[in-house]
Amino acid sequence: MHDGSGRIVVQGLTKQFGPVTAVNNLSFTVEPGSVTGFLGPNGAGKTTTLRMLLGLVTPTAGGSTICGLPFAQLGNPGRVVGAVLEAQGFHPGRSARNHLRVYAAAMGVPDQRADEVLHLVGLGQAANRSAGAFSLGMKQRLALATALLGDPQVLVLDEPANGLDPEGIVWLRAFLQSFARSGRTVLISSHLLGEVEQMVDQVVIISRGQTAYYGPLETLRASQQSRVLVQPADPQALVAKLQESGIGSIEWTQDGRLAISGVDRKEVADLAMSSGIALYDIQQEVIDLEQLFFRLTSGQYSGAPVPSPTGYPPQPPGPSPWQPGNGWGGQG
Ligand SMILES: Nc1ncnc2c1ncn2[C@@H]1O[C@H](COP(=O)(O)OP(=O)(O)O)[C@@H](O)[C@H]1O
Ligand SMILES: [Mg+2]
Repeated sequence: MHDGSGRIVVQGLTKQFGPVTAVNNLSFTVEPGSVTGFLGPNGAGKTTTLRMLLGLVTPTAGGSTICGLPFAQLGNPGRVVGAVLEAQGFHPGRSARNHLRVYAAAMGVPDQRADEVLHLVGLGQAANRSAGAFSLGMKQRLALATALLGDPQVLVLDEPANGLDPEGIVWLRAFLQSFARSGRTVLISSHLLGEVEQMVDQVVIISRGQTAYYGPLETLRASQQSRVLVQPADPQALVAKLQESGIGSIEWTQDGRLAISGVDRKEVADLAMSSGIALYDIQQEVIDLEQLFFRLTSGQYSGAPVPSPTGYPPQPPGPSPWQPGNGWGGQG
């Protein structure tokens, strides 16, 4: 018997497809009562991970459990975990209600449950319409209704916001949060942080099959060392002055400004002033989560380094603060 905890545990999960390591030694835990976002760019390994969790792909190494058991040992798994995977098909001629009744019968739940779940996902009015003719957003809702048939304790959703209009996303957020607040577990994947930012309590961010960050979004936000961005008349002179006074660490931004961390605006402005260096612009960087997500995962597509702007000295690439394992991110 499963332990009824609603906990998802992924431990050292690895999947090799020939030469491609789709998932590489991935570990995380999802606790009941919360919504966890499983994030990464396309190709990061999200679907492969979820398919392993749901017993549809055999891991090369490692394993996972839901309520303390591997999926294959759950008995009647639809009663424990409801899943929505990418691109689910519906019998084109079958009504939404009949589609659900087929699954209800297979799972051993009464027919009337079909109407209950249609109501839950806001498709009550569309019960008799042919599912094949549904819009993408309605298909997502029907897939979610199917996942809810067995009244599961755990929901696993692969990119459920794809195809939803803004209203649908607001609805999905409210739905998943109330589902989680009833003490159940939600794991939801997305390649867009902004799409799920408002609905998740914690995130597992992966890049190239590996964890880039695992923890609350708030911690990720707070870990931000905000930088001072300046556009000096003479950047090299300002860099020299900053280095002389041992201030902060200095980087170039892609648009050719200096980004200085570990200082406030006043310190930089005073130093520039006392050194006779004009500043055309100075501001405190506002970090948005989407940028942070991009930095955390952009290694996946890293190609040629960003060229330094004409006239600026080339900068050796310093250690990036966006790597796991330097005290604020990474596993654990
Ligand atoms: N069945 C498969 N055979 C070979 N390669 C695969 C297979 N499934 C996924 N991949 C590869 O594994 C990597 C991760 O894919 P996927 O898990 O679908 O990522 P995501 O869902 O994050 O977009 C990609 O490089 C993809 O091409
Ligand atoms: Mg995917």
